[in-house]
Amino acid sequence: MKKIPFVYGRVADSKDFTDREQECRHLMQNFSGLVNTIIISPRRWGKTSLVGKATELLAKEDNSIIVCHVDIFNCRSLEQFYATYAAAVLKATHTSWGEFVAGVKKYLGRWAPKVTMSDGAQAYELSFGVDFKDKDYSFDEILDLPQKLSKDKKKRVVMCIDEFQNISDFEDSLGFQQKLRAHWQQHNKVCYCLYGSKRHMLMHIFTGYSMPFYKFGDILFLQKIARQDWIKFIVERFRSAGKQISPELSGAIADLVQCHSYYVQQLSQQVWLRTEKVCTRQVVNDAMTALVAQLSLLFSNIVDSLTPRQVNFLLAIANGESAFSSRVVLQKYNLGASANIKNLRQSTLDKDLIDILPNKQLVLQDPIFEYWLRNEYANRK
Ligand SMILES: Nc1ncnc2c1ncn2[C@@H]1O[C@H](COP(=O)(O)OP(=O)(O)OP(=O)(O)O)[C@@H](O)[C@H]1O
Ligand SMILES: [Mg+2]
Repeated sequence: MKKIPFVYGRVADSKDFTDREQECRHLMQNFSGLVNTIIISPRRWGKTSLVGKATELLAKEDNSIIVCHVDIFNCRSLEQFYATYAAAVLKATHTSWGEFVAGVKKYLGRWAPKVTMSDGAQAYELSFGVDFKDKDYSFDEILDLPQKLSKDKKKRVVMCIDEFQNISDFEDSLGFQQKLRAHWQQHNKVCYCLYGSKRHMLMHIFTGYSMPFYKFGDILFLQKIARQDWIKFIVERFRSAGKQISPELSGAIADLVQCHSYYVQQLSQQVWLRTEKVCTRQVVNDAMTALVAQLSLLFSNIVDSLTPRQVNFLLAIANGESAFSSRVVLQKYNLGASANIKNLRQSTLDKDLIDILPNKQLVLQDPIFEYWLRNEYANRK
């Protein structure tokens, strides 16, 4: 049986990764020149995959660079952050188990950390004792570890920190951000690439005038992968797995999900699974219906968590309305007084449900949620 040629819900690499050549070059140039970089996009457009690809290419091209990936998704406290951070830096710079243990001993030895092997020796874990928290001075050394290692190894270091918005949940987050920035701007052999999945929080951290990370580096606002590139990708992936789809139907897939990376892959997979040999329009339609049905419980839960006015506001956006303060729109969608619009806009923005395009138009972040609101929810009401 042929392998399914589409992936979603995990990082897209090698043949599953398409296009983004310009962005890859941009990142590689920044990293090579040690320019701090921030990547911002709505959810699931491909930030993590892009950083993975760019750093993989860079590491192949230039062996004087060490890349370190840190995912702080599971870090809920400062202690967890420091432990995860220290472990990631040491893993990136000390590849074998023996080297790792020696590195931990050399750089963190006096705090008596515990190292363990997990996943059948595939992964190494690093943990600190309960009194780690009280040793405030150790934290500074952990933050300076990439710079120290870059000097010792005589290599430049690229620190890629994913899910960076989590630092907002730490105790005294602002103080912590100030501390991070104060350390990082002293590091002349290291650059930081910061990104994550909560767009509005990252915007606040990096574009808020009074925030410590204001003007920290080059901000890359990631765009969608173009329709034309998706068409080439879908046609080729079908062909590679022994089935056929026309450019026209591949374009229809991209259009149905508005070129959203995750959903293009998910819908393509559904279409591929339903296609016997040659894809038809009916198959694409059936796959879309099935996908919407599959997600509808999730969407119902989102709607249940909102106020009726917030839902109506989203419905208006899904229907392409733009004159929100006009009496017609306010009445049609029961939005109350026009003074409410500002709050509705802010609250749905904070929940990462909507997005503001450069031309100020409001759109829903999730194209299938938009489709569902317009076609299913509105009819059900
Ligand atoms: N360059 C690409 N080529 C093909 N598919 C891609 C590409 N980038 C992303 N995808 C698809 O989108 C999905 C989400 O990608 P990824 O996890 O990199 O996005 P993200 O922006 O980091 O998401 P989040 O906002 O949740 O952190 C992948 O699982 C894959 O299906
Ligand atoms: Mg990601």
